[in-house]
Amino acid sequence: MDKKNSCLLVAFLVVFISMEVTFVQSQGNGNRNGNNEKKGIHDAASTHYELLSPNEETGQERVFCLARGKCQNKTLECPDQCAERKPKKNKKVKGCFIDCSSKCETTCKFRKPNCNGYGSVCYDPRFVGGDGVMFYFHGATGGDFALVSDNDLHINAHFIGTRPAGRTRDFTWIQAISVMFDSHTLVIAAKRVSHWDDNIDALIVRWDGEAVEVPTDGEAEWWINDGVREVVVERTDDTNSVRVTVTGLLEMDVKVTPIGKEENRVHNYQLPADDAFSHLETQFRFANLTDLVEGVLGKTYRPDYVTPVKIGVPMPMMGGEDKYRTLSLLSPICNACRFQRQSATATIDRYLVHNYQLLSGAAFAHLATQFRFTNLADLVEGVLGQTYRPDNVTSVKIGPAPPFTSLPCLQVFGSSACHSRR
Ligand SMILES: *[C@@H]1O[C@H](CO)[C@@H](O)[C@H](O)[C@H]1NC(C)=O
Ligand SMILES: *[C@@H]1O[C@H](CO)[C@@H](O)[C@H](O)[C@H]1NC(C)=O
Ligand SMILES: *[C@@H]1O[C@H](CO)[C@@H](O)[C@H](O)[C@H]1NC(C)=O
Repeated sequence: MDKKNSCLLVAFLVVFISMEVTFVQSQGNGNRNGNNEKKGIHDAASTHYELLSPNEETGQERVFCLARGKCQNKTLECPDQCAERKPKKNKKVKGCFIDCSSKCETTCKFRKPNCNGYGSVCYDPRFVGGDGVMFYFHGATGGDFALVSDNDLHINAHFIGTRPAGRTRDFTWIQAISVMFDSHTLVIAAKRVSHWDDNIDALIVRWDGEAVEVPTDGEAEWWINDGVREVVVERTDDTNSVRVTVTGLLEMDVKVTPIGKEENRVHNYQLPADDAFSHLETQFRFANLTDLVEGVLGKTYRPDYVTPVKIGVPMPMMGGEDKYRTLSLLSPICNACRFQRQSATATIDRYLVHNYQLLSGAAFAHLATQFRFTNLADLVEGVLGQTYRPDNVTSVKIGPAPPFTSLPCLQVFGSSACHSRR
């Protein structure tokens, strides 16, 4: 291989290795409050509290608010109509919602999506926007569309559907959503089942590509804390219903549900007999959207938003398929999308410094790797391997700036990164 290229490769490796970020993650099933783990810096004020022992007589749960503001150091107690934050024995009753933000209150709420509430996405997707206006967005069967795309948060939805003979458009439902933030991806999806059974879980949860089991007993929750945010997936019914919380970003209630026989008949969906078309009903609550948020749903949360849909017609339609279609469920790239992956942001920085002239819209996803070898021979070969020979004498020029990277590299990545081969 020509020398210039091999040196360039080494320079790349050095940059990537020094950029490697190690997340010390903790995760588990239940019992978060018992651990003394630190709350992340993006913790939303509403849930910033310490759990106290419940009222001995009534069992009403109590907390001590820590969030700065008028609620700080106040003790809040759940109302007697909903004594517990996470009612377990009967998950169908209302839960107690404690808000230590400036609201400083406790309220009783169903922990299920309210399909008529703000931020809901239900049925053949029918949305209620952040402005309270209801609309339909049909997407396309098999397509993926950005529901929300903001600086720190991106949410895609995967559409399934059918087109009965003679119809001009697909009937669609949302089968999966992916929530992207920092360097993470959380996927909530409905399993394809031929015959629906309420007692069988058709819920799929994936965290960074790995399937996650949400326990059905005890606290009935799965959580992870990477030191920046805490992510909790908590069952709100014995099967097919969860509440997802990502501190500082969002909370959502999700339910997996089929198309019933009656629904199929009334709407004349003409679904195939061997597919229950299990799909998601979701209600989102966002914590920290910017004024420039994008996405089919996100846009409706802009302060200056004026809905383009016809109000008063039975099926007000929202367009924007071209603006919000993404390459896949896991891709945050669309024509109007704003979200930049943390790793992709690094690529953009490097793009500016190095003038790589990458195609816009392509993140040039690549690998960052660090190897540790245990048993190499003295005659090991390869671009990287040769540097491990006991008699290795490097052929690259060692100096203040790393070979084939220009000085601005020092300003961007810090001198330790650029000098680490010395
Ligand atoms: C709450 O208590 C802490 C520690 O005792 C104190 O520093 C803080 O000023 C108190 N905040 C309010 C609003 O009283
Ligand atoms: C809200 O977002 C801004 C930037 O987008 C960030 O600086 C701030 O920490 C966020 N606040 C919370 C509570 O997460
Ligand atoms: C290769 O050579 C360099 C410089 O002579 C030395 O610092 C390094 O430790 C050597 N690498 C190995 C694996 O022996």
